[in-house]
Amino acid sequence: MTSSQRTIGVGLISVGWMGKLHARAYSSVPYVYPELGIRPRLVMAADTEASRVEFATRVLGFETGTTDYREVLKNPEVDVVSICAPNFLHAEMGIAAAKAGKHFWIEKPAGRGLAETLAISAAAEAAGVQSTVGFNYRHAPAVEHIRTLVAEGQLGRITNVRASFLAGYAAEPKAALSWRFDRKLSGTGVLGDLFSHAADLCRYTVGEIRSITALTSTMHATRPKLAMGQGTHFDVIEGGELGPVENEDYATAMVRFSDDGPGAEAVGTIEASRIAVGPECGYRIEIYGTEGSVKWDFERMNELQVVIGRHNPQQGYTTVIASPAHGDYSRFQPGPGNTMGFDDLKTIEAKKFLVSVTGGNGGNSTIKDAVASAALVDAAEKSAVDGSWQHLPVESGSMALKSRG
Ligand SMILES: NC(=O)c1ccc[n+]([C@@H]2O[C@H](COP(=O)([O-])OP(=O)(O)OC[C@H]3O[C@@H](n4cnc5c(N)ncnc54)[C@H](O)[C@@H]3O)[C@@H](O)[C@H]2O)c1
Repeated sequence: MTSSQRTIGVGLISVGWMGKLHARAYSSVPYVYPELGIRPRLVMAADTEASRVEFATRVLGFETGTTDYREVLKNPEVDVVSICAPNFLHAEMGIAAAKAGKHFWIEKPAGRGLAETLAISAAAEAAGVQSTVGFNYRHAPAVEHIRTLVAEGQLGRITNVRASFLAGYAAEPKAALSWRFDRKLSGTGVLGDLFSHAADLCRYTVGEIRSITALTSTMHATRPKLAMGQGTHFDVIEGGELGPVENEDYATAMVRFSDDGPGAEAVGTIEASRIAVGPECGYRIEIYGTEGSVKWDFERMNELQVVIGRHNPQQGYTTVIASPAHGDYSRFQPGPGNTMGFDDLKTIEAKKFLVSVTGGNGGNSTIKDAVASAALVDAAEKSAVDGSWQHLPVESGSMALKSRG
């Protein structure tokens, strides 16, 4: 190891889908960003399911494992911690991590609602630790290009935005009743799960949202139970014992953007579903302006549909493929057409987090972005009860575009 290299001790809490992915992302950072000299050291992993702890040490490469996450926070060799547990544990773990002086990378939604997210944010601020939130779709090179086009004014004044995050993981009525459907364990349903991502993408590309009205619905009232720490929420279970679905399958909202920045006077819609038949991960954002528009769909992550110019003789969309000109694409592939994938977005997120931890400007999302997204989710939930418009105090998240004017 050269003197310019810095070893960062990593703790992982929960070894489910996201936990495994965080571990891989940390391990990829030295290969993808060698010039940073950051060497993550996988120190300790925790999960209440013993077989997953064993997986973390045997396969992922953690030096030690435990079934009690507090051991991770007590470990002096751990500098940063990934919190990848189900939502109901985020506040407890995020606050404990901050109090233990550990910088944390926490999965979205950070907490079961605004109050819990604010509590995590306050703890991080009091402890002076860095935070990053799992808003991974921000890092897609095509999304970074959208952000640039909007900021440069190439789309003109933004008129309207359509964000629709339509997933099919629960389209099958016998799809497993994982913790995601239990209000105590998850909080909201698709609002926290997918709407939170869509709200963040709107904020990241266009700007803050100041008012919202929403509708929600639940299509499937019961589903077959799945024990914690077993399988995934994509599992379909035949003949299992049924339990109640306690939160919404679908949500839709109308929004009005803030008064300043590129989205001043813009309006839009945000829609999210976990029961869509057709789109599996159809996470789309369309942004329309007075001079042009863009359309992106995560299912075709490396493509962007763009129109610029009202008097363009080539009417209609041009397909722009993600290339080394966009975001961190060149770190993964040398030329356009060699596509990137979901896991690569997490590697970018790990890099941004670790840069912030080493005192640099990582350009990372922070717990304040989670607060802004949670405020929108909370407002949507309230509005869905009585049809009211909810007006938000525009919190400035770290990547909000308020100052771009
Ligand atoms: N950013 C994204 O795109 C994205 C995608 C999927 C999930 N998520 C988020 O990541 C989080 C985890 O989701 P997942 O799909 O990985 O869940 P998962 O069900 O695959 O894994 C959850 C893990 O937590 C463990 N666990 C439960 N109680 C625990 C405790 N007390 N201590 C330690 N571990 C415990 C379980 O045993 C399980 O291994 C959620 O908040 C979810 O919303 C984010």
